[in-house]
Order: sequence, then C-alpha cells, then structure tokens
Amino acid sequence: MKDKEIQVLDKKFRTYITHQKILLRVNEIAMQINKDLKGEDPIFLGILNGSFMFASDLFKSVSIDCNISFLKLASYSGTSTTGNIKRLIGLNEDIKNKTVVILEDIVDTGITLEHIIKQLSGYEPKTIKVCTLLFKPAAYQKDIKIDYYGFKIPNDFILGYGLDYDGYARNYKDIYIIKS
Ligand code: IMP
Ligand code: MG
Repeated sequence: MKDKEIQVLDKKFRTYITHQKILLRVNEIAMQINKDLKGEDPIFLGILNGSFMFASDLFKSVSIDCNISFLKLASYSGTSTTGNIKRLIGLNEDIKNKTVVILEDIVDTGITLEHIIKQLSGYEPKTIKVCTLLFKPAAYQKDIKIDYYGFKIPNDFILGYGLDYDGYARNYKDIYIIKS
C-alpha cells in the first residue's frame, strides 16, 4: 500500500501499520491465547479508551470460554504527594482466583501498566497476563513481563486504531507514525 500522509491537529503522520497487517497479527495473538489459556476461563480487561478497537478485533478470534470487561484509569486530584496517581474504575466482576488478561493499546514507559497491575493485585487474582497491541521497548522502564504483544515499535509517537493525539484520530483504521 502506498504511504498516506495525514495531518492531525498540528502534526503530520504517515501510514505505519496497515489495518490488514494489524488484523493478521491480532488473529495470531488470539490463536496463541486460545492455546495457552484453554480451560482457564480467563477474564479479559480492556483498558479504555485506547484498547477498544484492539479488544474488539482480538475478542472476535478468541474461541475459548472467557469473559470481557472494560476499565478506565481516572486521574484523581487529591492530596497525594506521589504525583499523578490514577485510579482504576469500572471493575464490577469478582476477579479473585481468576486468570486476568489485561488488554492495552500500547505499553510505553510501563508506568500505566504498573499502576494497573498494582491495583488489580489487591483483588487477589490467580494470575495477571499482559497483552498489548504495541510495545515500545526503548521507552520501557519496568520489568513486568509482557506476555503478548502485537508489534514492537520505535520510540516515536503513533496514532490510529484506538490510539489518539489529544483525543483525535482514534477512529482511523490504520496506525500512523509521526513524521520527523
Ligand atoms: P506508559 O505509562 O508510558 O506506558 O504510557 C501508556 C499510555 O500512554 C498509553 O496507554 C497511551 O495512552 C499513551 N501513549 C504512549 N505512547 C503513545 C503513542 O505513541 N501514541 C499515543 N498514545 C501513547
Ligand atoms: Mg491508553
């Protein structure tokens, strides 16, 4: 496919991963999960907003018994001295002794992921697996294992397929990378 250039707000982007390539890879991840987690009756927890397209496409190819639910990280303004703490909201299911699979759009520094895992651990799940569509190894600061990832990408800003720039471009079906 010919590279397409788009403008979102003040920045220019070019096609980086086409929708077709995304779907092929997402299907591969689903097949791996079907194999690995058969009989585990896992609960997938999609982290909003970014993961909605990934979660939707992945879930269509997951064929084992499982549940899905969606969580959101809400910043709370409080008296915390530790800075920007984010609270996980929307968990209505009991995940005690369950196999949990976190679905993320992207893992960058891993700070968000660490927050999520810390909070979920409090509910005493059996195990927590991490599944992210995109992973930026050069930016990653944590040692939490990434069990499943779609694509390793360089440390550049990308958008589309659920990922945004200031709230925009989540609706694009391809993934775009910033033009330098
Ligand atoms: P982390 O806490 O640094 O791992 O960042 C995770 C969050 O930052 C993701 O859930 C995204 O919302 C956002 N993010 C990180 N890199 C990008 C990017 O290249 N494009 C769009 N959003 C990004
Ligand atoms: Mg996100």
